[in-house]
Amino acid sequence: MQTVDASQSNSTASKGGQDIILSARGVTVGFGTKVILNELDLDVRRGEVLGFVGGSGTGKSVLMRAILGLIPRRAGKIRIFGYDLERATEAERLSIDRRWGVLFQQGALFSSLTVKQNIQVPMREHLKLSPRLMDELATLKLELVGLPQDAGDKYPSELSGGMVKRASLARALALDPDLVFLDEPTSGLDPIGAAAFDKLIANLSETLGLTVYMVTHDLDSLHSICDRIAVLGQKKVSAIGPIEEMMVNDDPWIKSYFRGDRALKRV
Ligand SMILES: Nc1ncnc2c1ncn2[C@@H]1O[C@H](COP(=O)(O)OP(=O)(O)OP(=O)(O)O)[C@@H](O)[C@H]1O
Ligand SMILES: [Mg+2]
Repeated sequence: MQTVDASQSNSTASKGGQDIILSARGVTVGFGTKVILNELDLDVRRGEVLGFVGGSGTGKSVLMRAILGLIPRRAGKIRIFGYDLERATEAERLSIDRRWGVLFQQGALFSSLTVKQNIQVPMREHLKLSPRLMDELATLKLELVGLPQDAGDKYPSELSGGMVKRASLARALALDPDLVFLDEPTSGLDPIGAAAFDKLIANLSETLGLTVYMVTHDLDSLHSICDRIAVLGQKKVSAIGPIEEMMVNDDPWIKSYFRGDRALKRV
């Protein structure tokens, strides 16, 4: 049995021991008569970078939102940081909210606020800090995600796509979370920008012991930084494991995703 603590190890293979930071059991989510997720089970290990894949419209974003409590579940249990989300008191819920950060697929930043102000939104919500301290913290977060300091005073519309992603990540990291949810963080970036973003995420995971839950269609990210990959199929997590396991899985969808024409054209 693997018992290595991710924070004490640099080896990718041993990252994410048996300590489960998030577990979903029997999660069912639907809209009207349409069932999107049916009795889904998932465990996320502390310290791992988990990549989440699945066809477009299969429910990856819906699952993320259901975990975050933004979409109601019809059935199932979600435990996060050891708390049962449904039974958490208001104070517990607030403390849970402080321990996770989110980069949404759409509408990542408030367009009427500068980057710095965007990063400070979670701080204002959860902490009582002086404006000066908040400025210092925002400066640190900009540095952490590799943005120049002058980006802090810009509005999202003045940034490139890659910079918006980095600024959104800075906001997700505003409260020094244990876990971040990233919904397609490299979509729309050129391959060099995407590779740089991947490297940033891998570094953060290594140095901060951050657990990363990342929805992605990016095969390069899946190969280069994910410790495990979860596949959403038939309204459930149909497979989960390291990339090596995905490469030999014979499920038709998984096979064509990881070993299809497009995948094999990767150099
Ligand atoms: N608020 C909602 N009301 C009704 N249906 C919804 C709602 N949100 C999502 N859906 C439906 O749930 C299904 C799953 O959507 P979701 O956004 O999770 O897909 P996805 O796997 O993230 O796809 P993509 O890879 O394209 O982002 C889709 O059929 C979508 O139309
Ligand atoms: Mg989505």
